[in-house]
Amino acid sequence: LAVEYGLEAPFSVEYHDSIGSTNDRARDLATDGASDIAVLADEQTGGRGRLERAWSAPSGGVWVSLVCRPDVPPTKAPLYTLAAAVATARAAREAGVDARIKWPNDVVVPLEDEETDRPYRKLSGILTEMEGETDRVDWLVVGVGVNANIDAAELPPEATSVREEAGDVDRRVFVQRLIEEFDAQRNALESVVEAWRELALTIGKHVRVDSAGGAVVGTAVDISDTGALLVETADGRQMVSAGDCEHLRRT
Ligand code: BTN
Repeated sequence: LAVEYGLEAPFSVEYHDSIGSTNDRARDLATDGASDIAVLADEQTGGRGRLERAWSAPSGGVWVSLVCRPDVPPTKAPLYTLAAAVATARAAREAGVDARIKWPNDVVVPLEDEETDRPYRKLSGILTEMEGETDRVDWLVVGVGVNANIDAAELPPEATSVREEAGDVDRRVFVQRLIEEFDAQRNALESVVEAWRELALTIGKHVRVDSAGGAVVGTAVDISDTGALLVETADGRQMVSAGDCEHLRRT
C-alpha cells in the first residue's frame, strides 16, 4: 500500500500501515516546522473524532491528516475545514457515491426516506486542529476520515462506506483527488463557501444544532462567509458558528 500511495499530489506523503492517530503524528510534524505533508494510514488504533469522541478507523479506510501553514488569521481557519469537506465530497462523488455535506463538515449520503430523524448516513468526518497567535495561524492539521473500502458491519450503525454505496475505490486515486481538490480550494478561499453551498444537504432542512449556547431548532437558511449556519427559529434568525447539527423530521 505504501507503493500504492506514491502520489503526485501537491503534498508530500508519509504513509503508515498502522498508527495511533494520523492527527497526532501530523501535529508532531507541524510542531517541528513541517508544512504541506499528508500523513496517511491504512488503519488507526486510536482515531480521534470531534468533541473528544473516538473515531473507528479499521483497515481499508482513507485516514489522512494534512499539515498546512497558511498566512491567515485564525478566523479563517474554519474555511480550511469547509475546503476539506468540499474536496472529500467531490472525490466521493467521482467514486460514484451520492455524497453531500451536512453542516459544518460531515460528508453524508442522504437516505430515500426523509420522514425519519437523521435521514442520512455518515461517510466521512473532519477534525481540524490549530495552533497560533490571535492574529495569525501557526499551523493547521486538517484530519479527514473516509469510510472507503470497509464493510458496514465494521462501522457504527449511522455510518456508511464507499464500498456499501458504490463498491470499492482505488484509494490512491481517491486520495490524489481529495488532496488536489483541497489544494485548489485553499488557493481560492474566497469561493470555498460557494462551493460548499453547492454540495450542502443542510440548507432548507429542519435542524437542531447543539452548541455551547444551547440547542437551536429551526430551518437552516444559509451559511455565512465565515461558515456559520443561519437558522430561522420561532424567535427569529440565529447564527451558530459551531456545534453538532442533526436534520429532523418536520412534525
Ligand atoms: C468527526 O466526525 O468526529 C471527525 C472524525 C475525524 C477522523 C479523522 S481520521 C484521520 C484523522 N486522524 C484522527 O485521529 N482523526 C482524523
